[in-house]
Order: sequence, then structure tokens, then C-alpha cells
Amino acid sequence: MRRVKESKYCRIIFAALFSFLLGCMITLNLTPIDKTCIVDNTDREYNIMQNSKLKNPEVIVLILSAVKNSDRRNIIRETWLTLGNNVLGSGIKYRYKHYFVIGSLGLSNDEILHISTEQSQNSDILILPLYDNYKNLTEKVLKSFEWLNLQYDYGLGYKYVLKCDDDSVVNLQSLLVEIPKLESTLINSNLHYPLNLPPEKLNHFITTNIQSNEKINTVNIENMSIYWGYFHGNARIKRNGKWQESEWILCDNYVPYALGGGYILSRNLVSYIGKNVNYLRTFKSEDVSVGLWLSAINNIIRVHDIRFDTEWTSRGCKNYYLVTHHISPTETKFMFESLVNNKQLCVREVEKRKYYLYNWSALPSECCVMVN
Ligand SMILES: *[C@@H]1O[C@H](CO)[C@@H](O)[C@H](O)[C@H]1NC(C)=O
Ligand SMILES: *[C@@H]1O[C@H](CO)[C@@H](O)[C@H](O)[C@H]1NC(C)=O
Ligand SMILES: *[C@@H]1O[C@H](CO)[C@@H](O)[C@H](O)[C@H]1NC(C)=O
Repeated sequence: MRRVKESKYCRIIFAALFSFLLGCMITLNLTPIDKTCIVDNTDREYNIMQNSKLKNPEVIVLILSAVKNSDRRNIIRETWLTLGNNVLGSGIKYRYKHYFVIGSLGLSNDEILHISTEQSQNSDILILPLYDNYKNLTEKVLKSFEWLNLQYDYGLGYKYVLKCDDDSVVNLQSLLVEIPKLESTLINSNLHYPLNLPPEKLNHFITTNIQSNEKINTVNIENMSIYWGYFHGNARIKRNGKWQESEWILCDNYVPYALGGGYILSRNLVSYIGKNVNYLRTFKSEDVSVGLWLSAINNIIRVHDIRFDTEWTSRGCKNYYLVTHHISPTETKFMFESLVNNKQLCVREVEKRKYYLYNWSALPSECCVMVN
């Protein structure tokens, strides 16, 4: 009898919560992350959105998307997002969680209906209160980090955030294997001056730099935050075109930043940015802005990695890529099939552009000399 009563209560509470969330979604212009919709501390399950059976993902994958790109989102859901689920038969399961990030303001009724339906089917869209256009990409990143920071306070214990776009392809399984490898490489190294990994540890994919107020041989590696991607140090300020930056006065170039097609940040860095939303200047390019915001951070390791093919155009295809960018939906499917069938990302390896290994011992103007 008691059982029945309890389950009835549960159902009523669940229904109430569900209606509350639904109400939030619809009435507040599809903004479930608005503060008024954050259920309180004691109710973590609902807080981390409805599909969160997974309580402590190690990696959060944030995929910046546009309302109209539901086809791209579906392809990503069907392809590389499944790669962490033992698709390649490694027997390892990783704890990761993804969100597609879109803005909810100024949508047509049609679009609202579309997104609501997609959300009810997938529960993986982070709907933020901003206009969904490329001019607001930096705000999108900023608000996503703010949200993640709040979620962290409410018990979502992630370690890293991967930010990418809906035309990025992530070899998620390899990446999730590389994260602990990178950690152990860094932890086992002696971190001698000039702050690069000792040659025997330095594999040919990465160069690293540590910034710390402490003497480098007393640095506690556990305290370090990681900023990981394909870095650019001498990028010229865009003076015209889509990414024009007319108000940049800080120096002749941008400060070193990891290119936006895909980069990884430790939780600390995401929290730092998320906590300081109201103080940060947002420039046009989100990746440039993130590089700037993190330029003054203490205890940070910058990892330049050529396995991040994240420039404005792809360098081609190499099986070692962890992230590749500007990939069409068709190519995305081909890559996924190739990974599943041949355990290789590329149907055929191709080199269209050269890469560089970032030289952290040189000034940024000399950082990036092509090597191949
Ligand atoms: C986004 O873009 C629109 C139009 O360009 C602009 O009016 C708005 O202030 C921007 N910011 C946000 C948070 O939506
Ligand atoms: C760094 O690590 C030491 C030892 O584990 C700890 O006492 C200290 O609080 C840490 N500092 C930060 C800023 O996390
Ligand atoms: C990096 O830059 C420093 C300083 O300019 C230079 O001495 C060194 O040879 C460079 N390293 C590589 C690998 O190019």
C-alpha cells in the first residue's frame, strides 16, 4: 500500500517537475538554462538536463551549432559521437557527455517547434538566451562556460571541456585515450627549463609550455590547467571580412590562442571564464577571445598538438588526427565508416597544407615555422 502511495507521489513530483521544465522551456523563449530554471542544489538530476543518467562525465563535448543545422547535428549524433561507446571494440567505456549549443532569441515559431521536437527526442541541446548568429559566437562560448560553471557547482564533476563546431569531426575514442596519456606524459616529465618536454618524452605531435609563478622544478603538476589544441601565435588582426576585428588595440597581432575548430580546456579554466562573464571583453572570434582571456592565467600548460586539424581550412586527412575541421556531412559519414570498418579515420591520407610545431622558446612572431 505504502509502495503504491510512494510511487504515486513520485509520479506527481516527476510530472510537476516535468511541467515546470517544459513551462520554463516554452514560456521563457526556450531558455531552460535561465537562472529561474535552475532547480536548486538538492535536485541535481534535473539540473543537469533531463537525459543525465551520467552523473560524472570526465569530458564535456560542447558543439557550437546553429538552429538550422539539425541535419548536421543528426549526422554527428549518428557518427562520431557514438565513437566513445566501444564502437571500435576496445572494451573501454568513457564518461563523456555532449551538448549542441544554440541561441534561442529571435526564433520563428517554426524554428521553436523544430528545436523543441529535436530536444524532446535527444535532450542534448544547450539552449542559451542569445541571438543565434555567428556574430554572437563569442557570447555563445562565454555563456556556455558560465552554464558549465554553474552546473559544476551543482555537481557535474567534469575534468575537461572540448569545444568544437558542428562541422568538426572528432575521433572521440582516440581523443579519450590520449587525454590520460597526455596527463601521464606531463606528470612523468621533469619539466626542466626551457619548459618544454624533455626530448625523449616529446613525441612528434606536441610541443608544450608551462606558465607558473613558482620555480619550474617546484611546480606541482596536479595544480596545472591544460589548454590544448593547435596554437597560433602570430595571427594578423582581421581588418575586413566576416571576422573583422575593428576595436582590437592590444598589440599588433592576436595573443597566442588555440584555433577554434576544436580545443580542450581544464575545468579550472572554464570555471575562471564562467565566473568572470561580466568582466570579459568579447571579440569577434571566440578562439581569439579565449586565448586573450587565458593569457594572464597562472599554472597553465599550453599544449600545441598537430593532431588538431583545426585551422580555417583542413590540412587534409591524416589517420593520427584527433579533431578535423570544415568537414562536410558526407565526408563525416565516410570518416566514421572508415573508422568502424578499417580503424582508420581517412579513407585515403591526404596532405593539402603544411603544419608547424609551435616553438614556445621563441617569441610569438617566430613561433610558427612550417616543418614539413
Ligand atoms: C547578438 O547579435 C544581435 C544581432 O547582431 C545583437 O543585437 C545582440 O546584441 C547580440 N548579443 C546577444 C547576447 O544576443
Ligand atoms: C597546489 O598543490 C598543493 C599540493 O597538492 C596544494 O596544497 C595547493 O593548494 C595547490 N594549489 C592550488 C592553487 O590548487
Ligand atoms: C625555437 O626558437 C629558439 C629561439 O629563437 C631557437 O633558438 C630554436 O632553435 C627554435 N627551435 C626550433 C625547434 O626551431
